[in-house]
Amino acid sequence: MSGVRRLRIRAATEEDLPHIVRLDEEAFPADPYPYFVLRQLLASFPDFVFVLDDGEGLGGYVLSTPPNAAQSWILSLGIAPGLRGQGLGKQLMTQILGHLRAEGVHSVTLSVEPRNHAAIALYQSLGFTADPGGPRQDYFGPGAHRLLMTLSL
Ligand SMILES: CC(C)(COP(=O)(O)OP(=O)(O)OC[C@H]1O[C@@H](n2cnc3c(N)ncnc32)[C@H](O)[C@@H]1OP(=O)(O)O)[C@@H](O)C(=O)NCCC(=O)NCCS
Repeated sequence: MSGVRRLRIRAATEEDLPHIVRLDEEAFPADPYPYFVLRQLLASFPDFVFVLDDGEGLGGYVLSTPPNAAQSWILSLGIAPGLRGQGLGKQLMTQILGHLRAEGVHSVTLSVEPRNHAAIALYQSLGFTADPGGPRQDYFGPGAHRLLMTLSL
C-alpha cells in the first residue's frame, strides 16, 4: 500500500477478509485472531468493521460490535507498520466512534495491553479513561492482563 495515494475509510466487505487477516497478524504477531474468528466477526457485524483503503490495498482496520443496551466494544485496531504515526489510527477510531454514536451507542469499551503506550495514548487523546482499578489481572488468561478503557458518547 502506498502512503501517497488517496485514503478512504469505508465499511469492510467479505473480499477484505484476507487483508484484514494480514493486518491483524502484523498488528498482533504474537497473538492474532484465528482466521475463522475474523471471518465470523465480519459475517456477523459487517457494518461495524471499518478499513482504510487506498484503492489498491488496505492499510488499517478497526473491529467494533453493534450496540447491546447502548454499549459497544472496540475489539481490535491495527495500522500497517509502515503507515503508523501519521494520524491514521486516530482517523479510523474517530470514524467508527461517529458511526457508533449514530447507531445509538452511549458507551464504548475496549481492552488494551497495559504496556501498549502508543495505543493507550491514542485512546486517551480521544477521551477514553482507564478503569480506576488498574489492569484486570489474567483478563485473557494466565499472565494476559488488560486495562479496560471506556468512552461516553
Ligand atoms: C496503536 C496504533 C493503532 C496507533 O495507530 P497510528 O496510526 O500509529 O496512531 P496515530 O498516528 O493516529 O496517533 C494518534 C495518537 O496516538 C498516540 N500515539 C500513536 N503512536 C504513538 C507512539 N508510538 N508513542 C506514543 N504515542 C503514540 C499519540 O497520542 C498520537 O497523537 P499525536 O500524533 O497527536 O501525538 C498502531 O500503532 C498499531 O497498529 N499498533 C499495533 C496494534 C495495536 O497495538 N493496536 C491497539 C490494540 S488495543
